[in-house]
Amino acid sequence: MDTQQQPGRQAGLPPLASGALPGVGHALEFLRDYPRLLERGFAEHGEIFRLRLGRRPAVFLVGPELAKWVFKETDHSLLIGPSLEFTEDLFGPDLYYLAGPDEYERQRAIGLPLFRGKVAAAHLAIMERHCASFTARLGTEGTFDLPAEMNDLVLGVIMEALVGDDFVRRMPPTVARDFRLFIRGVDPITPAWVPAPHLVRARRARDRLRAACGELVRARRASPVDPPDYLQVLAAAVGLDGEPVAESQVVREVLSTVFAGHDSTTGHLGWAVIDLLQHPDELAKILAEQHRVMPADAALDIAAVHRMACLDRALRETMRLHPVVPLMIRRAMRPIELRGRLVPEGADVFIAPVLSHRLPRLFDDPASYRPDRYLAHPELASHLHGFGGGSHRCLGEHFADLLAHVALTRLFQQFELTLLEPHPVPVRTPAFKGPRSPCRVRYQRKVLSLAGSAA
Ligand code: HEM
Repeated sequence: MDTQQQPGRQAGLPPLASGALPGVGHALEFLRDYPRLLERGFAEHGEIFRLRLGRRPAVFLVGPELAKWVFKETDHSLLIGPSLEFTEDLFGPDLYYLAGPDEYERQRAIGLPLFRGKVAAAHLAIMERHCASFTARLGTEGTFDLPAEMNDLVLGVIMEALVGDDFVRRMPPTVARDFRLFIRGVDPITPAWVPAPHLVRARRARDRLRAACGELVRARRASPVDPPDYLQVLAAAVGLDGEPVAESQVVREVLSTVFAGHDSTTGHLGWAVIDLLQHPDELAKILAEQHRVMPADAALDIAAVHRMACLDRALRETMRLHPVVPLMIRRAMRPIELRGRLVPEGADVFIAPVLSHRLPRLFDDPASYRPDRYLAHPELASHLHGFGGGSHRCLGEHFADLLAHVALTRLFQQFELTLLEPHPVPVRTPAFKGPRSPCRVRYQRKVLSLAGSAA
């Protein structure tokens, strides 16, 4: 990537996309329909352009090459923390991306092993159990709201896998609702001091979650569980000063990891179901793969999951077309020259999977759902960055992927599903872009043949 840290004299700001209004710039259009606005900026100016979204210049970088540059420069000339300072009120100042680089490294190192290797088998058993009770609860036939059901399924799995079944037992019955209210408080537009109802409700929900989780941390410190889960490892961790990490910080980390994993995975699962229901030929391939890889009544193990290449490709294609993190943001900490343009110090720098994943120079027929494109061209996967990249790449990627395999396998194995919503659209809220509720699905339980496979 051709970058220089010292801008040359000739470098000018990236060109401004058309349509900026006096005073508000592109802000209203961005809120209304940012994918269309980004497409216009790209069509007018190519892979580097600028929008007016607030007081700071907002520079948009399109394409996997520029995304990789951003991932490499993160924690150097670009930082995450300052660009996400609007989350500080909700999450606290010393959390992860908001903390300094040393504290960040320490926190990431604590969490990383809990998403790898042997732990995955324990997570899989939890996922299987939750999926089994979800499918049992559905009964024989009926309809359900896809985003709402995926939300409950994912939250149940994440809470038990990361925080333990004692969390599930001890949490107040309002926990699912509290997480939803909490998520609505992630708002880059309304200043934290404005007493807007959604911000007030989010803070109250956060405080209820914190109080319940704090009790659990105290219980875990008094009687640790073995093998340790994420909460136990955090409760036993020491800070950079060698002292046990403060209870309040453990609580903040736990809640924010559940936050990072819950809505994102819910959205991804929802789109994966929708894509398969809209493409019966692709669903047929996945059902055939299920027959080859595992009998209907067999337990799913990691080896079987690894043999589901067809489902892997389908999930990758869903991530390409519907990245639930459609934009990622950084703050430029010094002036940077990039491809002959000046990214000024203090600018917000965005990368946009929502646009980069559909570049015609990389993907044939980019708007079409075609999982087999990765069969013919496996290298296409390297252009995708729905899970981020570099040292901040998603910590829960393998967890989310495993859950998607288990949930989709069990759902499609046991039910005939029909999508009742003709045109599913993404949620309006600024957080993760899953499908908007209601998005109803009709289901009919399949009849098991004597051989144990679904007819
Ligand atoms: C399909 C589901 C998911 C998607 C699409 C997703 C996407 C992402 C993306 C794009 C980032 C990087 C953001 C950036 O660079 O600005 C990220 C970071 C992160 N994700 Fe995920 N995520 C998913 C599931 C999960 C799950 C299940 C967990 C935990 C259980 C999780 C925990 C995290 C954490 C802790 C980070 C911060 C990593 C760091 O800064 O070092 N995510 N995720």
